[in-house]
Amino acid sequence: MKISIIGSGYVGAVTAACFADCGHEIICVDIDEKKIQWINQGIPPIFEEGLQELLEKYAGKTLIATTDYEYAVLNTDFSFICVGTPSEENGSINLSIVRAAATSIGAALAKKEAYHVIVIKSTVVPETTEKFVIPILEEASGKIAGKDFGVAMNPEFLREGKAIYDFRHPDKIVVGSIDQRSGDLVSELYKNIECEITRTDTRTAEMIKYVNNSFLATKISFSNEIGNICKKMGIDTYEVMRAVGKDARISPLFLNCGAGFGGSCFPKDVRALINKAKDLGYSPILLKSVIDVNEKQPIIMIELLKKKVGNMKGKKITVLGLAFKNDTDDIRESRAIPVIAELLRLGAEVSTYDPLAIENMKKIFPTISYHNSAKEALQGADACLVVTEWEEFKKLDAEFEVMKEKIVIDGRKVISATSIDYEGLCW
Ligand SMILES: NC(=O)c1ccc[n+]([C@@H]2O[C@H](COP(=O)([O-])OP(=O)(O)OC[C@H]3O[C@@H](n4cnc5c(N)ncnc54)[C@H](O)[C@@H]3O)[C@@H](O)[C@H]2O)c1
Repeated sequence: MKISIIGSGYVGAVTAACFADCGHEIICVDIDEKKIQWINQGIPPIFEEGLQELLEKYAGKTLIATTDYEYAVLNTDFSFICVGTPSEENGSINLSIVRAAATSIGAALAKKEAYHVIVIKSTVVPETTEKFVIPILEEASGKIAGKDFGVAMNPEFLREGKAIYDFRHPDKIVVGSIDQRSGDLVSELYKNIECEITRTDTRTAEMIKYVNNSFLATKISFSNEIGNICKKMGIDTYEVMRAVGKDARISPLFLNCGAGFGGSCFPKDVRALINKAKDLGYSPILLKSVIDVNEKQPIIMIELLKKKVGNMKGKKITVLGLAFKNDTDDIRESRAIPVIAELLRLGAEVSTYDPLAIENMKKIFPTISYHNSAKEALQGADACLVVTEWEEFKKLDAEFEVMKEKIVIDGRKVISATSIDYEGLCW
């Protein structure tokens, strides 16, 4: 099949490369010329394990990239919208990029005779496909959804860092569609992937994505709350959760307490669902608490630090880990951001290290110091905060010797060194 992928970020680039690997012909579309050039040269626009190998294999052959919507739509049978849906100040999602993408697809559709299916993969709140995307497509194309073109909603559940594995081995594939034909065609694209396809209408598919992320975020905030209580009693919360997770109704996953969740999805999606509920006249108490607990965890880290270090003015504090999680260069909503902001507010000098995310974080904090190794960042530090669960941090030991004071506050339970003044966030 021939597929255009609109937006070549984390979701778009991975979807494009993996669909190419399934044997489909792919045209990536982005407004960012640099990304287009990289993809055509086989260079990933983002870091994701295994992506480079796939792009090197297919770029210039069955996968090409362009800024030209018309070319992409006229030469494919499907267009997957994979553009960003960032948060507004009030938590609602900003649909301006989806609007731009749908308008451009619609304008190209106006010039196309053959049937085409538009698939929304971006995370959008329930009813967006029906009430926002379809009217834009119809207006821009002068055609009618369900008659002249198909529409489906196919939410994405990938984990950054494991996205290619997740594409190949999904727990679920959800295809919501406005009619049987659109749903059948989109389902057919996944025929080489061994997974049952859940077929729904579009608003249900949209809701499944939000409920999925909100539930996982709730598990994390629940674990953080329990961790904060356990710490006050000297109970090992990890031991508690290991036992609790043996209950098949609970599962052991997402029960690790620590500095909280970040990334481009959980915080944004929970806030968007809260906002949608409010619009409907419902106040979602539990979901609001999920966000409140999450925002408190980095502040608790700083409180623990202040107890050990005292006045922070002029103190050199090392932050290890900038990415929102390990194995990615993505810093969106990383817990390192509120941690660094608070340290700077308190007058500390901040020194950092991350294996992948330094260049991205420089755009937010251009004046703090960035180093090429943990040891270099720790040199002469008064204390260290560990914010990301990078595998290499588990092996840190002698590196702490270069600190002025070997105070380490661990937000991820990754540090195993013994000759340090160690404190866990919730343990
Ligand atoms: N990143 C994740 O782990 C993840 C997982 C599941 C779902 N999602 C959802 O998928 C969507 C995309 O997320 P992402 O992380 O890939 O975003 P991203 O910001 O990494 O990528 C979006 C891309 O769209 C491009 N773009 C912007 N305007 C455009 C336009 N008018 N036409 C074409 N391209 C345009 C940008 O240049 C960028 O390359 C969001 O709705 C997000 O919530 C993300």
